[in-house]
Amino acid sequence: MAIQAGLGLIQDSGPMDTTTFNKLRSMIYDRCGITLRDTKRTMLSARIRKRLRDLSLSSFADYLDFLVNEAQEDEWVELINVVSTNVTAFFREPHHFEELLKAVDQWVRAGQKRLRIWSAASSSGQEPYTLAIVIRRALNLAGHNEVDAKILATDISTKMLSICKVGQYPTEAIKPIPVEERNRYFKLDRSTGMQQVSPDLRRMITFARLNLTEAPYAMKGPMDAIFCRNVMIYFDNHVRSKIIDQVLRLLKPGGLFMIGHAESIQGPQLKQFTRIGASMYRRK
Ligand SMILES: C[S@@+](CC[C@H](N)C(=O)[O-])C[C@H]1O[C@@H](n2cnc3c(N)ncnc32)[C@H](O)[C@@H]1O
Repeated sequence: MAIQAGLGLIQDSGPMDTTTFNKLRSMIYDRCGITLRDTKRTMLSARIRKRLRDLSLSSFADYLDFLVNEAQEDEWVELINVVSTNVTAFFREPHHFEELLKAVDQWVRAGQKRLRIWSAASSSGQEPYTLAIVIRRALNLAGHNEVDAKILATDISTKMLSICKVGQYPTEAIKPIPVEERNRYFKLDRSTGMQQVSPDLRRMITFARLNLTEAPYAMKGPMDAIFCRNVMIYFDNHVRSKIIDQVLRLLKPGGLFMIGHAESIQGPQLKQFTRIGASMYRRK
């Protein structure tokens, strides 16, 4: 059955056929390492149907053709947004930040003058801004404000990175931040009704696009902590192991590695870490 599209008619109203699904998921895997199981066909079809409407294309086969022959990087960003989720929150999995606070406190009290933290799938920025708040908290507690502390925040999605850079969030979204820090680091922008992150917190963070499946990464390290949370869940073991090899290259001995609650490190790579809590590791 045909349904009305933006300018034309969408011929495909049900899930996409097996050949198109297989081609599409193999392109997605090659491009961003995301594995789509058979059960995802209906979800993918529904979400791509929206792209058909936006692009005034009439069938899944046309979309595939567009991707192969015409699409620019922007369409890939849209597609990656379609297949992954950007769900995130300030102070998500708070025990990771409590551990980081303790570690930073110890490092700076021991005389460390340089801190480098990486948020490896930063989504819309709540994770790197939380890291910045926690580092500032730790430095204030230890009375060491002269420490050179920087955060690198990367994501594959340029759309998410633009949100990060603007640094505006709904009032509801900043509620997990303790009230004193909310008042210190956020200001209501009356024109947008959103909470604007303060420039000094923003200055601690460098935002850059990085596809985690394209190893080796350009950074040299060493990093003191790497937060790679709720992204490896999309990848198969081969891609995960490639990412963890890069983490091992970049993370200093004694550095922290935080992953999502549904993720794990497996095989020989696990021997390189000490597990210090739920989804928290220290590099040996
Ligand atoms: C669920 S969010 C995780 C956000 C944050 N780390 C957290 O735990 O709250 C997943 C993010 O991974 C990003 N992503 C998906 N595939 C990626 C890839 N191959 N390389 C880098 N980032 C990727 C998505 O764009 C999305 O922003």
